[in-house]
Amino acid sequence: MAELGYEVLGLDIDVDKVRRLAGGDLPIHENGLGALLRNGLESGRLGFTTSFEEAAAFGDVHFLCLGTPQSADGHAADTSQLDAAVDALAPHLVRPCLVVGKSTVPVGTADRLARRLQELAPAGTGADLAWNPEFLREGFAVEDTLRPDRIVLGVRTAQAERTLRELYRPLGGPPCVVTDFATAELVKTAANSFLATKISYINAMAELCEAVDADVVALAEALSHDDRIGKRFLHPGIGFGGGCLPKDIRAFRARAEELGVGHALAFLGEVDAINTRRRERAVELARDLAGGSLENCPVAVLGAAFKPDSDDIRDSPALAVAKALAGEGARVSVYDPAALDNARKSCPELGYAGSAVEAATGARVTLLLTEWADFTGLDPVALGTVSGERNIVDGRNVLDAAAWRTAGWNYRAPGRP
Ligand code: UGA
Repeated sequence: MAELGYEVLGLDIDVDKVRRLAGGDLPIHENGLGALLRNGLESGRLGFTTSFEEAAAFGDVHFLCLGTPQSADGHAADTSQLDAAVDALAPHLVRPCLVVGKSTVPVGTADRLARRLQELAPAGTGADLAWNPEFLREGFAVEDTLRPDRIVLGVRTAQAERTLRELYRPLGGPPCVVTDFATAELVKTAANSFLATKISYINAMAELCEAVDADVVALAEALSHDDRIGKRFLHPGIGFGGGCLPKDIRAFRARAEELGVGHALAFLGEVDAINTRRRERAVELARDLAGGSLENCPVAVLGAAFKPDSDDIRDSPALAVAKALAGEGARVSVYDPAALDNARKSCPELGYAGSAVEAATGARVTLLLTEWADFTGLDPVALGTVSGERNIVDGRNVLDAAAWRTAGWNYRAPGRP
């Protein structure tokens, strides 16, 4: 927003995070975002605070960008951060303004928050709410924000629609869908569920391929030439993770059940189960290569982040596999270009290395579990000279199988002969 020319004040209750951001230090790994942060600070258009009172006095538009993680005691989304933010902000809203929800929420949340807002805000009905989900991907957050493929506006007043259309005008003309609160909320969870289903679909095909020695990579390529299917999100491997897809499909299902239409989304339970089985398959392949037991086996794990170009380890398939390998007695050494600090904090029981080569040195099995470019470009000949045994599991189906086999490696990958 500061890049588009607006005056922006970012608020967080985490004092340390606010201090770091105000000093130009980005607390997460996200391509291009550090430069935008520093531009914003230098231009004077971007500042940070921990004060709701200051934020309320400052903004005409207030974006709510809070996390809605999976609840500790079930599959539903935990909206407590969002509720707390509205409760803290609303009492300071004394003049007309627009509060805009960005978070991924159970359908019905916006309606509840609109009522809460008007109850608590001195501005009363002058404090309007809109629901405006975002679809950015980690690793491409800047690109997806500045060049979105669509804008969805859930609004109840013409003024809210005008304000948001005007606000997004500098983005050019992406398609804009104007709708009600419930539909806007559903668009987000429907989109993520569709993507998760597409990934699990190809991973279910991988299971079939494994039963008959067929090749899921060739199968996916052949499917992808049909424009109606397309190739995106049809990449087979150890499945999806992160802070969005896994918890969103569970929360979507839980909400459908509350609404009495659980049967409509029952298939998402299967999508989730297929995804989990792919992590187990990676462990199975490693165990096979180790000769049937991982007990005391030195194993290299390349990747800890849930996807490349991110340091996010939330529900990371790579770390889940690393932990399962360690659980079977393997001596695991993990390397990741960006997520090592986060991984160390979250899984202190695992071993860590300072490079891919260091992790693979002496390993009897090496697993590529996050497809960082650093790993897909590894030279099988050079790596073969340091590894204990030439056994590789290509968990993301990104390596050139023939080149690795020619260099003397036993190459295994999910869904491939
Ligand atoms: C996802 C959606 O793609 C975004 O559109 C959405 O805005 C975001 O969630 C969100 O709700 O905030 P993200 O979690 O950043 O974005 O990651 P994805 O690129 O969707 O990847 C998710 C997982 O699926 C990763 O673990 C990735 O490795 C895996 N994946 C992706 C596959 O296994 N195969 C594929 O073909 C594609």
